[in-house]
This record gives sequence, C-alpha cells and structure tokens, in this order.
Amino acid sequence: MRRGPGGEASLRRRRGPARLWVAVAALVAGTICLSSSSSVGLFGASYRVQDVDVNKLWRTADSNGWRASSAPRTYWPPPPTESESSGYLRVRCNGGLNQQRSAICNAVVAARIMNATLVLPELDTNSFWHDESGFVGIYDVSHFIKTLKYDVRIVMSIPEITANGKTKKLKAHQQIRPPRDAPVSWYATVALEKMKKYGAVYLTPFSHRLAEDIDDPELQRLRCRVNYHALRFKPHIMKTSSEIVNKLRSEGHFMSIHLRFELDMLAFAGCIDIFTPHEQKILLKYRKEHFADKLLVPRERRLIGKCPLTPEEVGVILRAMRFDNTTRIYLASGELFGGKRFMKPFKAMFPRLENHSTVGPGKLEENTQGLAGSAVDYMVCLLSDIFIPTYDGPSNFANNLMGHRMYYGFRTTITPNRKALAPIFIDRAQGRSTGFEQRIRQVMFNSHFGGPHKRIHPESFYTNSWPECFCQTNARNHADRCPPDNINDVLESQFQSEEEMEEARMTNQTDSTGQTEEMMI
Ligand SMILES: *[C@@H]1O[C@H](CO)[C@@H](O)[C@H](O)[C@H]1NC(C)=O
Ligand SMILES: *[C@@H]1O[C@H](CO)[C@@H](O)[C@H](O)[C@H]1NC(C)=O
Ligand SMILES: *[C@@H]1O[C@H](CO)[C@@H](O)[C@H](O)[C@H]1NC(C)=O
Ligand SMILES: *[C@@H]1O[C@H](CO)[C@@H](O)[C@H](O)[C@H]1NC(C)=O
Repeated sequence: MRRGPGGEASLRRRRGPARLWVAVAALVAGTICLSSSSSVGLFGASYRVQDVDVNKLWRTADSNGWRASSAPRTYWPPPPTESESSGYLRVRCNGGLNQQRSAICNAVVAARIMNATLVLPELDTNSFWHDESGFVGIYDVSHFIKTLKYDVRIVMSIPEITANGKTKKLKAHQQIRPPRDAPVSWYATVALEKMKKYGAVYLTPFSHRLAEDIDDPELQRLRCRVNYHALRFKPHIMKTSSEIVNKLRSEGHFMSIHLRFELDMLAFAGCIDIFTPHEQKILLKYRKEHFADKLLVPRERRLIGKCPLTPEEVGVILRAMRFDNTTRIYLASGELFGGKRFMKPFKAMFPRLENHSTVGPGKLEENTQGLAGSAVDYMVCLLSDIFIPTYDGPSNFANNLMGHRMYYGFRTTITPNRKALAPIFIDRAQGRSTGFEQRIRQVMFNSHFGGPHKRIHPESFYTNSWPECFCQTNARNHADRCPPDNINDVLESQFQSEEEMEEARMTNQTDSTGQTEEMMI
C-alpha cells in the first residue's frame, strides 16, 4: 500500500486532484514495490552511511504514521453570505508562477480573516486578470471556487450594486500597499476598516504580504487546502504533464532536478569566478541592474556554501551517492547560463537526460509568458520519484515543490547541504581528494529526505507544512488527530443551513433588489 494521501482520499472533501492523478499514481505504484517495512534505519539514529542502499530512495520517505490532511479539525463555520460579507477583497499577485501561488494562498486566508468576499486573484503577468495569461489561463477556475466553497466566497469581479434604483460601481480602487509579512491583526483592523468604509479594497503588490507563521492551525490548514487542493492547473497543462510523466515512467523510475544555474541566480549569488571574462561582465551587469550593491567575494561565497551547485557538482554528488549512468533525469530549469560547457561533464555522467522540450508533446500553449512551461515542470517534478533542488535560497519553485511533495505522500526529496559540501569540493579542487566520495555520502545521507520533520526558521510553511497539514489516526496529541470521516457531510450541512437562513432573510426583506448575482463559472 502506498502511504500518503491515497489512504486519505475517502476522507477528504476535496478529492479532485487525487482523482486526476490516479492514472499517474497507479503507474508509480506499479513500478515501485512499497512495503510497509521501514528502510534500514535510514531515518533513525542508527544509520550508517555504508549501509545505505540508494535504491531505497526511489521509494517515498518514512511517514512515521503521518498522512496529509488539511480538512478543518474544529468548528469551521461557512463563509459569510453576501449580506454578511465585510466587502470585496481584490489582490494583485506579483512575481513568477510560484511566488504568485503562495500569494493566492495568502489572499484566500486574508479574505477568511476579514469575512470578505474574494475577487479572483489577479496575476501580475500582463495587463489584466481576464487576459489568458492570468489566473484563468493557468488554473482551473471553477475547481478553485468549488473547492473553497466552505471557506471563502469567490467571485469573478466586483459586481455593480443597485441601490435605490441607481447603479453604482463599488469603489474598488481603495488601493493599499500591505506591509511585508503583515500579521493577522493588520487584516482584522487596518484593512478591514478601509473595506467597510469603501466596500472593497485592492491590495497591491501582494506577495509575502501575510506572515507565514500564523498561530492558528485552522488558517494554516486553509493555506494547504488552497495550495494542494484548490489550485489545479488547467486540463491542457495537466494532460501534457501526465504524458511526459507516463513517457518517462514507461522505462522505470526517474528523478527530477531543478538546476538553478541561471543568469539571475548566479548574478544574485555573486559566484562569478568560474566564468569567462565576457560571462563575468554579463553577470556583473545583471547584478548591478537588479540587486542591491554589495561587494561579494566569490571565494568567500563558495566557502560558506552560497554558490549554486554547478551541473558538474550535481553530477559528482549523484555519482558519489551511487546513482549510475542509467538513471533517468528530467531537468527543470530556465535557460542555463554558460552554455554547453557546463552541461557537458554532467551529460557524460548521466546521459539519459530530458527536459520538457525533448520529451514533451510539441509546443505548449503560446501566450502564457512561459508560465505554462513552468507549470509543466512543476507537475513533472511533483510526480517524479526523486526531486533534487540545487539551490534552497530564494527559489519559490523548489520551496513550493518540497512542500507539495511532502504533502503528496512524503515523496523523496534530496536536498544537498551546500554549506556542508563546500569544504569537500574546495579540498578536491586543491587536490586533497582522499575519501572524497565517502565524505559526500556522509553529508548527503544525513537527511530526512522529505519525511516529516520540524520546521525550523527560516524554513517556510510553504516548504514544510508539518504538523498542521498532517494527521495521525491514533495521535497522542489531540490536535494531531485526523478529522472524522464525515467531515465533508458536516461542512456541507453547515453550508446548507447558512444558505437557507440567507434565503429566508432575503425573502423577508421588502426591498430585495439590492442584490446582484455574481457570475460563478
Ligand atoms: C468574522 O465572522 C466571525 C463569525 O461571524 C466572527 O466571529 C469574527 O469576529 C468576524 N471577523 C471579523 C474580522 O470581522
Ligand atoms: C555506463 O557505464 C558503463 C561502464 O560503467 C558503460 O559500459 C556504459 O556504456 C555506460 N552507458 C552509457 C549509456 O553511457
Ligand atoms: C532541453 O534540452 C535540449 C537538448 O539538450 C536543449 O537544446 C534545450 O535548450 C533544453 N530546453 C530547455 C527548456 O531547457
Ligand atoms: C422572517 O420574518 C418572519 C416573520 O416576520 C420571522 O418570524 C422570521 O424570523 C424572519 N426570518 C429571518 C431569517 O429573518
């Protein structure tokens, strides 16, 4: 039996994504024999590096009896009805696909805090949200609204309000710039006051505008419901992704690597010494234009593990771990900097290399500003047997995936500890290579591989939602207990009675013209 969300499917009210992935999941289960016996102390205190069988990494990490669950565990009233709502919340999410993803989660939580009606979040890719490159171009909107119906009311746009026979557009442009990582109290006071005054507020820019540490597990679970259940890519993206996964899987298991060896990353990290003078010029120029002026000494950066791993280093690490040259690898990345020169040594070690252009079914939808390609990479990395991020700094792609893979059944993630690896690589470069591979193994196998583990600052909630979004059937701690099997029915009946109340209230009103129907897709 496969551990993880599979067993939870019957319990969850949000079953959509699980069902969509059944085909893929079945393939996974077919190729990997997952017994319930735990792996040779790999995660216990007793592990010895020489005992580690790398083949075990193709299985999921040890769950220790935990499984993903983000349904409410305490009384969770339905969202306010139209007449009870505090007003409309509009947000504009900036950043790339994955920064926007967490911003969308934050927007739903913010709307819940304020008892507001959420206007479908705008994505800052192009001019306006109804542009195909926005939310509706990437995500399945009806699924999003339906999945969150017990949490927050969501509308496509701010309706016109007819009052006393006059139509007026709500002042949607009461624009506020929220403080970075604003606390819940900011939404419940400052933002709410403005919303009540103007009927609507527009928060922009909106990324990292709600603190990640919220001392309310129900709100944290709501974040997981948005992130892991409500946000589903559009069918054509899911189809392309599953075609790629099926193709890769048809020859056995595969790993995905997020190779963050890209211009912006390298310029940010300031590790330019391995490049030609011409390349250094490009990096320095980019750095000057995009980042704060700061003197970075490449050698020092390298010493403290601040440089992204080179493709060759990634290859060397994998070989030291005893992955052989038959390993199938899917590379997720933008354009690699420095061209073929850097990929050549990696390719020599691991020739079975693919990316979404080489294995994908032709061209992806145009006019999504690269978002569709990034979304496909996201899905393939989510479903791969092993995922390896190569840079754990400001990379929302890798961070979100680590969190999502944990939620999706503790799928193995290998996270190189660059700081611990740095002296080993430096020694090797200076000719001291005795015990080199053994030293790398010591570092690499001293890891939880994506199993349940305590979140330690600055690890993000989006990278690790344990324990809030996980539960145990027989947990000693009551708060960790899985919600009852009929949680869906409970929420549905609360929702229904609220609707009936609202209806009764409406029919009681003599003037009932004040209501405008929102369009729900
Ligand atoms: C939202 O509604 C709930 C339930 O009616 C109430 O307890 C809570 O105080 C409200 N929150 C705000 C910020 O108005
Ligand atoms: C993998 O390595 C073996 C030797 O260890 C070699 O014989 C074989 O040709 C290599 N395969 C590929 C695809 O490079
Ligand atoms: C995919 O791999 C091919 C062949 O190695 C390369 O030419 C292409 O640039 C890669 N595409 C992406 C998006 O990385
Ligand atoms: C509707 O009006 C009736 C009679 O005036 C009253 O008894 C009932 O409580 C009202 N219902 C609601 C939901 O306000």
